[in-house]
Formats: sequence, C-alpha cells, structure tokens
Amino acid sequence: MAKICVIGTGYVGLVTGTCFADMGHTVTCLDIDENRIHQLQQGIMPIYEPGLKQLVDQNVEAGRLDFTTSYREALKGSEFALIAVGTPSSDDGEADMRYVKSAVDSIAQHLDHPIIIVNKSTVPVGTGDWVAELIHEQNGKGTPPFSVVSNPEFLREGSAVNDFMQPDRVVLGSTNIEAANRVADLYQVLRSPIMITDLRTAEMIKYASNAFLAARISFINEIANICESLGADVREVARGMGMDKRIGPAFLDAGLGWGGSCFPKDVKALTYMAAKSGAHPQLLRAVMDINMNQRSLAVRKLEQALGGLEGKVIGVLGLSFKPNTDDTRDSPALDIIRMLLKAGASVQGFDPQAMQASKAEVPELTLCQNPYDVAKGADGLLLATEWNEFKSLDFGRIKANMRGRVIVDGRNIWDGPELQKMGLNYFGVGVPNPK
Ligand code: UGA
Repeated sequence: MAKICVIGTGYVGLVTGTCFADMGHTVTCLDIDENRIHQLQQGIMPIYEPGLKQLVDQNVEAGRLDFTTSYREALKGSEFALIAVGTPSSDDGEADMRYVKSAVDSIAQHLDHPIIIVNKSTVPVGTGDWVAELIHEQNGKGTPPFSVVSNPEFLREGSAVNDFMQPDRVVLGSTNIEAANRVADLYQVLRSPIMITDLRTAEMIKYASNAFLAARISFINEIANICESLGADVREVARGMGMDKRIGPAFLDAGLGWGGSCFPKDVKALTYMAAKSGAHPQLLRAVMDINMNQRSLAVRKLEQALGGLEGKVIGVLGLSFKPNTDDTRDSPALDIIRMLLKAGASVQGFDPQAMQASKAEVPELTLCQNPYDVAKGADGLLLATEWNEFKSLDFGRIKANMRGRVIVDGRNIWDGPELQKMGLNYFGVGVPNPK
C-alpha cells in the first residue's frame, strides 16, 4: 500500500484522496485554506457530494486519511503527490495556473526524497513538461529524482465517488513509463481499462472529452430548437438516435444547456489554446454560442407567454448547475434569473442544496422553503434544474398557488399534455406545445 499526498480538497482532491484511502492507501489531503482543513478535521464536508461524508468518516476512523495545511507533513514519506487544485478561467478563457504553480513551488521546496507528481487538475496541454522544468529550476542539481504523470479526472459532481470507483477508463500520460506504471498499480484493483500515453496526449484527452460531451448537449439543443419550429419531439428524436450504437443515449437531454465548473471553463480554455496555436476552433465556438443561447431562449419563452416580464413574478425551481450538487458555478438557472431580474421581473426560487450559494451570487433572489411556496403568487414557473424531488409535484397545489398559468419546463421532466389538461400553459424545450 502506498503513501499518497493529495493537494487541494475541492471535489476532485477530496473524492480522489478519500477513495484511495478507502482502497487501503494512507492518504494525507492538504489545502492552504485553514478553515476548510479545520472543518474537515471535524468531519464537516466543504461540498455536498452524495456518499462522501460517510467514506471520509470511515477512513479517518481507520487511520488511513487525515488533513493538513502543512506541505512538510503531507509530503513526508509520500511516494505520490497528487495535484488537484483549481484552474479557473481568466477573462480571455486561458486557464489560470496560479494555484498549480503555487502547489508545484511548494512541492519543490519540500522535496527531500524521490516522488511521482501526479497531475489531476485540468491543465493546458504542455503543463506536465512545465511542472518538471519548474521543479528543476527551483532545486537545481540537488533535485531528488521525480517524475510527472498526467492523470486527468472524469468525475461528475453528484456521482463523483461512484465515478472514481467504477471508471470507464483511467488515462495516464508520462515520459517515464515506469512512473506511469506505478500510478497504474494504484488503480489496478478497480479492474477498469488503463490507458498509458504521453503527457500531452493525456492532457488533451481530458479537454477533448469534456468538449465532446458539451458539443453533444449543444447539438441536441440545436436539434431541439429545430424540432420546436417543425413540430417534432426532441425527446423521441434523442431516443431514436441513442439506439444507434455509434451514437449512444447519454448526454442527449435537451434543456437549458450545460454549466458548472468544468465544461464552460474547459471548452473556453481549449478554444483559447487552439486559437493561440493558429488553429480555427469554429465548432467549439458554436458549441459555446448555442449553449448561451438556450438560456436566453428560456427567458424569451417566459416573456412571450406572459406578454412581457416587467413587474411579473417568476418562480424558479432548481438553482444549482445540475441536480445532486450544491455547486452554482456558471449555473444556467442563476444566469437566467439575472436576465429575468434585468428585464424587471421579481424572482423567487428554491433548491434542495444550493440556496445559500445562490443568494450569495444573486442577492435580489427571494428564497422559498419549497416548490409550493415558489409557486405562490407567481405569474410563471420555470423548472431550471431537474432535482428528483421536482419530478412528481402536486400540480393542483401548484396551480392553486400561482397567480398566472405559465409553466416553462427547462429540462423536459413533466408531462406537458397532462399539465395542459389541468389548465396550465406548458412549454418544454424542443417538444410540441400541447394544444
Ligand atoms: C463534467 C464531466 O461529465 C466529467 O466527466 C468531468 O470529470 C467533469 O466535468 C470535470 O471536468 O471535472 P460535471 O461538470 O460534474 O462533469 O457535470 P455533468 O454531469 O457532465 O453535467 C454538465 C452539465 O451538462 C450540467 O449543467 C448538466 O445539466 C448538463 N447536461 C448534461 C445537459 O444539459 N444535458 C445532458 O444530456 C447532460
């Protein structure tokens, strides 16, 4: 069993460190955020991720997992240092590498034994080489032997623990095959395909995978808009397409488009890298345009159905960027709420986990206790994020509470004809409007 240090306790670092501990390794998770580490030491999770708290508690209890702010402590005796810090977007889309640089600088300062540096953060192609240069620059000739391995993560928020334990594949990239094999050994027990390639290719696989998934969603959203004009049903179109093994059914749910901390930043960063290297990333640009347009289309639907937005009350169900997370980063729901507010509407909303974060981002948003309160006095109701608990609501109660009749189902989870029969005025995304 190995001793592993994980730098960064965001959802990638915390999930990765905890899962490795659960596989029997000894793991120290490090973060420079003292408050976060203090909370983790007391068993308080910094993020909402199903199954994570229980796994953290079990492994802390078993003595395989601990938390620190000290690089010296975390690196002591570690055979692997995993970097899992954020790489946010700067204004032009370029990935901001300041946290990665600071992690690498700190590793370099404390390096007193051979180590394998595993990069899990999503970083521009070429970063692996840059990390190696940085460490050599800092330590000069006295640098203990080290290798850099790129190991992109494919965890989804909301199912990150499962995704870690049952990956479709593990991708490793390095110029040092021995180091890559040693990282591969950490994953062998999961019995999933392991692919070893060079550093830059591994880094590119991550960007290409996220960009492709984002493109699938934008594709089906474009088809949804065509369906709406031509009277076809995009849900059936996606089902029919998905039965083709070459296409497959996943990531073909039309709706308000993608958000979160990954797709927006990664598609932008790939576009930036492409343009900088002289390529023409026209598909990636269209993928982003279509995605932003889905948000405006939802606002326009409400506006048209209500005959304007000025002075109207809109209820919004679901505020996080997707279900099963409290993450509101680039949430389509919050973006739409900002547009509604700008158009003169007042907005009241509810989310099972993301209330605080949403209020912090959009202070003008009124928070409600449940979906029925959201409907109270509303002229229109928008389903923005498809939490399970919104799937079977009592629409008699919703209707009785509303002032108006307009329902915009931004994720196609409700039975339109049924709601229409009840006297509500239903609009989905890419589905024929019930008469
Ligand atoms: C995504 C990838 O799925 C992970 O493989 C990757 O590791 C992660 O980014 C990352 O780079 O860290 P995540 O952002 O957690 O994971 O969320 P997804 O489940 O991929 O959903 C992204 C967005 O697409 C959400 O806003 C979701 O509502 C939207 N979506 C998803 C659709 O609009 N339609 C779909 O059919 C699927």
